[in-house]
Amino acid sequence: MIAGKKVTLRALEKEDLTNCWKWINDPEITEGLGTTFPMSKYEEEKWYEKSIGDERNKYFAIEVDKKHIGNIGLHEIDWINRKATLGIMIGEKDYLNKGYGTDAIKTILKFAFGNLNLNKIHLTVFEYNKGAVRCYEKCGFKKEGVMREDVFRDGRYYNTLFMSILRSEFNGT
Ligand SMILES: CC(C)(COP(=O)(O)OP(=O)(O)OC[C@H]1O[C@@H](n2cnc3c(N)ncnc32)[C@H](O)[C@@H]1OP(=O)(O)O)[C@@H](O)C(=O)NCCC(=O)NCCS
Repeated sequence: MIAGKKVTLRALEKEDLTNCWKWINDPEITEGLGTTFPMSKYEEEKWYEKSIGDERNKYFAIEVDKKHIGNIGLHEIDWINRKATLGIMIGEKDYLNKGYGTDAIKTILKFAFGNLNLNKIHLTVFEYNKGAVRCYEKCGFKKEGVMREDVFRDGRYYNTLFMSILRSEFNGT
């Protein structure tokens, strides 16, 4: 268990897959993610099994008062260059915009910099995902670059932003 101020991060259990499957097939949640096709329960199970023991991709369940509200992960962990990609999804819609995403990210940053000895956490975010960009900025992420007309959605192209935070920039809380 990794305790934050508002959330707890724990290992993702097989029993959590029902929630994951529900969220990953909800267009309101996946609007900001890179998914295109609906995901079957079988694909979800395969993804989970593949993730077990994967030293480069670590997934955590985000809990509030023992309720599983979303997932967060460190991906493509690069143990030589000491960096990783961050991924996050708050799937329970009643829990959006209440600061849980910010707390989950700050909690995993503290763990990544303080326990895993990583030096940089980076991510990509669609420019139109204003809530996510704001959340990352609140956590100390800086914009690093723009990939122009990078993603095609609903008949038009949108930019993707690169954002990152260095260990030296993280204030530790
Ligand atoms: C991105 C995500 C993790 C943020 O989590 P969250 O718990 O809702 O975020 P927080 O409440 O901590 O912060 C959101 C901030 O964005 C602001 N915000 C929300 N919608 C906004 C919008 N359309 N424009 C500007 N700001 C917006 C909120 O007001 C809040 O800022 P504030 O605290 O200054 O008021 C969550 O929205 C999510 O999981 N979305 C679905 C999946 C997704 O898009 N993941 C990210 C992929 S890169």
